Amino acid sequence: MASFFEKQTINKSNLLTRRSALNAIGAGVTASICSSFLTSNALATSNIPFGVAVHLDPFRNEPIFRELLKQHAGLIVPMNALKWASLRHTEGKFDFGGSDEIINFAEVNNKPIHGHALLWYDANPSWIDAVTSPPLLEKLLIEHIETVVGRYAGRIATWDVVNEVVAHDPLTQGKWRKGVWHNILGPRHVEIAFAAAAKADPTCRLFINDYDLEDDSLRTEARQRAILQIVRRLQKKNIPIHGVGLQAHLYAERRTGRDNLIKFVRELKSLGLEVAVTELDVIDWKLSADPKVRDRAVVATVREFLDAITDAGSVRNITTWGLSDKHSWIKDVFPRSDSAKARPLPFDDQWQKKPLFDLIKKYTK
Ligand code: G3I
Repeated sequence: MASFFEKQTINKSNLLTRRSALNAIGAGVTASICSSFLTSNALATSNIPFGVAVHLDPFRNEPIFRELLKQHAGLIVPMNALKWASLRHTEGKFDFGGSDEIINFAEVNNKPIHGHALLWYDANPSWIDAVTSPPLLEKLLIEHIETVVGRYAGRIATWDVVNEVVAHDPLTQGKWRKGVWHNILGPRHVEIAFAAAAKADPTCRLFINDYDLEDDSLRTEARQRAILQIVRRLQKKNIPIHGVGLQAHLYAERRTGRDNLIKFVRELKSLGLEVAVTELDVIDWKLSADPKVRDRAVVATVREFLDAITDAGSVRNITTWGLSDKHSWIKDVFPRSDSAKARPLPFDDQWQKKPLFDLIKKYTK
């Protein structure tokens, strides 16, 4: 896992925006952020569903998680239960135990469901990573997508069809993510996956999902260009694609490239695509240990990003990658150098609300 990041409203009142700006400054954020508050769209977009990615272990074992989901989630995303590694332990059999548990809960509680993910270079069973025959791999991919999307057809409203197919750094690594799908099938793997998903559930909204699309570094610009190229190529071939998911694993030490992000989102919209925030959390590994300082910086980081993306146009949903710090992946992949616990999510490790929760509620319904 550590490899993929390769470590390293029209304003209701100016009062609100001024307060936001002051908070941001208090968190050590530079004045450049303040310009965004003049156009902040947050209050006008408060009909955006608040999505939560659901990790099976706490979902099963910590009743408070299910209670908080019932209270607050406007969308449910099975975090790992729909990945190949969870569904396909052996080639001959699908294991829908975990995904059914989460999806049934979502349906009973009238929560829409977003599916994650039909193709990813990571979290594959070893038997799929070992396939070397292109026709066989294509057949397995199509069968998998038809079976999984088919099972939940009409129930899962949106799918991440492909996840992280763009290289971490297209400037030095070429456009495509290396992994079994690209290595064996070449760029066609994306087309095969979208076509199979569209066939299995023609009503479903189909997304491409990726990370590091928010700042204005040359690497991020190259990643944005790669996404736009993939979208245009699918459209040229009349293969349905409906949206782009911005994971938004934000780094507290990086700034949102506001103008660049708005340009990117508007280009996607001009191609007829929707935009969703799919895996929001904040990597706080470089911040000082004081939880109050960190919580303020996390809020400032997320506010800056959400202001930019909501100013760029409508957002289908804002989803956090889990709810409680207790179960976040960030402490494992981005460990701190001190003994302080990572604080990337809206609730702390005792399931207590943090300032990030209140912030997200300002942008979501
Ligand atoms: O289910 C097994 C359990 O049986 C076993 O005892 C335990 C021992 O390690 O592992 C459990 O599986 C783990 C699984 O999470 C469920 O907890 C895997 O080892 C672990 O690798 C897996 O990590 C997930 C990772 O994707 C890989 O699937 C993280 O929870 C999840 O947050 C992460 O999510 C990704 C997105 O899909 C794509 N974008 C980046 C994001 C963060 O890495």
